[in-house]
Amino acid sequence: MSSWQRTHTCGELRETHIGQLVTLNGWINTHRGYNDQLFLDLRDRYGITQVVVEADRPEIFKLAAEARGEWVLSIKGRVRERVIDGKQKHNTKLATGAIEVLAEELVVLNRCPTPPFEVFSVPQEGQAFGDPDLANEDLRLQYRFLDLRRPTLQRTLAMRHRLNKVIRDNLDAQGFLELETPLLGRSTPEGARDYLVPSRVSPGQWYALPQSPQLYKQILMVAGYDKYFQIARCLRDEDLRADRQPEVTQLDVEMSFVEMEDVFRVIENLTVDVFRRCLNVEIKLPLPRLQYADAMLKYGSDKPDLRYGLEIVDVSDIAAQTEFQAFRGSLETGGKVRAINANAAADKFSRKQLDELAEVVKRAGGKGCAWVKVEAEKFASGIEKFLAAPIQQQLRQRLDAKAGDLLLFVADKEDIVCQGLGTLRTHLASVLKLYDPNGLDYKIAWVLDFPSFIWDAEEQRWAANHHPFTAPLDHDLDKLESDPGGVKAKAYDLIINGYECGGGSIRIHNPEVQSRLFKVLGMSEEVARSRFGFLLDALKFGAPPHGGIALGLDRWAMMIARTTNIRDVIAFPKNQKARDLMTGAPAAVDTKQLKELGL
Ligand code: AMO
Repeated sequence: MSSWQRTHTCGELRETHIGQLVTLNGWINTHRGYNDQLFLDLRDRYGITQVVVEADRPEIFKLAAEARGEWVLSIKGRVRERVIDGKQKHNTKLATGAIEVLAEELVVLNRCPTPPFEVFSVPQEGQAFGDPDLANEDLRLQYRFLDLRRPTLQRTLAMRHRLNKVIRDNLDAQGFLELETPLLGRSTPEGARDYLVPSRVSPGQWYALPQSPQLYKQILMVAGYDKYFQIARCLRDEDLRADRQPEVTQLDVEMSFVEMEDVFRVIENLTVDVFRRCLNVEIKLPLPRLQYADAMLKYGSDKPDLRYGLEIVDVSDIAAQTEFQAFRGSLETGGKVRAINANAAADKFSRKQLDELAEVVKRAGGKGCAWVKVEAEKFASGIEKFLAAPIQQQLRQRLDAKAGDLLLFVADKEDIVCQGLGTLRTHLASVLKLYDPNGLDYKIAWVLDFPSFIWDAEEQRWAANHHPFTAPLDHDLDKLESDPGGVKAKAYDLIINGYECGGGSIRIHNPEVQSRLFKVLGMSEEVARSRFGFLLDALKFGAPPHGGIALGLDRWAMMIARTTNIRDVIAFPKNQKARDLMTGAPAAVDTKQLKELGL
């Protein structure tokens, strides 16, 4: 061991070490100086230790005075109690706060120019993730090596390690095998655009990077590997959002001889383990189950946040009795009128703030929203004159409205009403602080009974709601051709606090059903063969009944870290424009490289 190498980490020393000679290695977190004493806080991923350099050691005092934030030092010195003027002066915010190290030797292992932003942040026990005054995100992504030194990010990435470890331990104990599948393969249909890779050996031909290991994992089932999992990178060229990256990490799972209940059991067992071992939070089983149609009606979303109420209520029948044109017009064209009762919120919104609520609905595609402030005797509202006393009475009853409540109505086509009120619901919950964004309240649920097909108005045909290998419910098989819109799928999503954190299905293992389904999708045998011939072949060679799921681990990490920004839980994320600002990818390549690829 070289003389400069550490004997302890910067988070390790306690009162029991007082008197010991130790060597610490780390980055300068902060430095402050007095006439004859310099204080350097040395930081590594384990913590921070205060180092004192005194003027009676001029050779190291001069060096220490020169040192600046983020320099890398080795300090050899003796551990002593923190005392000022004979009094104990422990820093209770730091785990090492009882002691300091009086430096005897100091080696500068490396210097650092003034960083473009402050890395410094003192981690505090019990503090939620996410630092308050962060530099501009693009700048932090460009200098990600500095940003990654932040204790918050270090803690988050350590948590991701733990998440993966818990998953591996749990699924191993449940009898699963971790198997890898190729990155260079054929296009997999998950609804996004593919990232393509040209082949040098076969000019003009392309690999597609996997949007998921979907087809490979099904083939593994045909091959008899009845319990498979993989922590897999999936690549999807889609528009990015706060919870979307082009490179996603999924926990991909597939099982043979199973029905939905078996998949639920495995994933629920895993969920309890993850929350217990990553957060010390107990999740109660069985997880609640929501029907897709109910979720859309009550919450305007297929991934509702269940930490608060604010349920949506249909009032179309009552609205039909009014003369209010916005209501009548929507109803006459087959639309709906629905409302949210924001309890006791009437005096929390000024006229201007109510206009802002209408803007929220407009941004979600609606025309706005009508509001009513409920008073003891009457409604205070711009549309009060359209609401005769008996109608007000019915609305009070239906919406369980009391004086002081604020009622918000949206009238439109059903999907727009859902979208508008769903968005308004999450907005209201955040404005009214109906949940604690840093809290440990987790509402996890299954969403079931999704429609198998959705009508693609542009292409005038039915499209698969999930992927085309998703099995319809047994009792809906009869109406596959006669009423595709009424067919429900053996598909399920796992939702956590308003995020879709997983999705999967039982697959079709019967080639005849698979052909019928392709026909509904308007896909000829030839097209199906050219796209998924290898899967169809494999299914014919003795495919067991099988099904599975993929959990979006980046989103799980967001939930555990309590952040709404997916880039906070990935070491090297892409920015909103899918760029890696640190390496500068994507970037131009040499013409020589292009020529080799025949491009
Ligand atoms: P799906 O496409 O629903 O299913 O993906 C599964 C889960 O992965 C996460 N996810 C994403 N997270 C961040 N950014 C993205 N761009 C992104 N895309 C997906 C979500 C989602 O619930 N092969 C099927 C699974 C199966 O049927 O077994 C699949 O990939 O949390």
